[in-house]
Amino acid sequence: MSTNTVDNKRKVTTARLAEMKQRGEKIAMLTSYDYSMAKLVDEAGIDMILVGDSASNVMAGNATTLPITLDQMIYHASCVTRGVTRALVVCDMPFGSYQGNSKEALANAVRIMKESGAEAVKLEGGAEIRECIERILTAGIPVCGHLGLTPQSINKFGTYAVRAKEEAEAARLMEDAKMLEQIGCFALVLEKIPAALAEKVAKSISIPVIGIGAGGGVDGQVLVVHDMLGINKGFSPKFLRRYADLDTVINEAVSHYIEDVKSSDFPNAQEQY
Ligand code: KIV
Repeated sequence: MSTNTVDNKRKVTTARLAEMKQRGEKIAMLTSYDYSMAKLVDEAGIDMILVGDSASNVMAGNATTLPITLDQMIYHASCVTRGVTRALVVCDMPFGSYQGNSKEALANAVRIMKESGAEAVKLEGGAEIRECIERILTAGIPVCGHLGLTPQSINKFGTYAVRAKEEAEAARLMEDAKMLEQIGCFALVLEKIPAALAEKVAKSISIPVIGIGAGGGVDGQVLVVHDMLGINKGFSPKFLRRYADLDTVINEAVSHYIEDVKSSDFPNAQEQY
C-alpha cells in the first residue's frame, strides 16, 4: 500500500510539485514505457512517471540511449498516458531531436505533447541547450532539466562513472542548475553526482531536484522501474535498491508453465470450453 495517503487521488501538476518542494514532501518518480506498467505504477501512487529514453536499453535492448527515435518515444509515451490518471507524465526528448536547432527542438516537443499526451518534456544538458529550452518554454510546454551523468553524451564522457567530482565540473553544474531554474524549468534531474553537491544544488534553487545516484539530500528520487523491480539483474550500480526479485518470480512462473504444458497438466478440464 502507498504511504502517500495525503492527496493520493489528486492529479499531480507542475504547480503541485513546486508546493511539495516548499513543504518538504519528497517526490517519488519512476520510469514506465508501456500501458500496463504505467497503470500499476500510477495506481500505487507515484507522483511522476518518466517515459525515459532508457526505453532504448530496457525495451529495445540497445547498449545506449542514442538509437531511440522521436517516433518511438512518442509511441512509448502514448502507451503510458493511456494508463495514467494521477501522475505527471514527463517524456524524454531523444538524442538528436533538440541539440543544435531550437526551432526543430520546439517542433519535436510539440509533436510529443500533441501525439502522446505527455505533460512535460525532459532534455539533457545546460548552457549548450539553453536556446532550445527557452524556445520550448515559449509554447507553454513544461521542461525538466537533466544534469550530471547525461547518458546521451556517453560518447563524450567515455564512461558511466560519477560526474562532477572535480571542482570545475561541479561549479559548471551549479551554474547550469541556476540557469535552468531562472529560465523557467519546472524541475531538474541530477544523475550520478556526489551527494553533497546534489544537496547543495537542491538548497540553492527553488524548483524540485530529483536525484538518481545523487544521494538523499534532494527533493525526490527517480529509478528505472525494471531495475528497482529486479527484472533487469545485469545492472547493479551502488545507488540502486531492488524492491522485488521479478527476474526469479518470472523465471519460476515460466518454468512451471513449460513443465505443465509438457506434462499435459495444462489445460485441465476446468480450463477449457
Ligand atoms: O531515461 C531515463 O530513464 C532517465 C532516468 C535515468 C533519469 O533519464
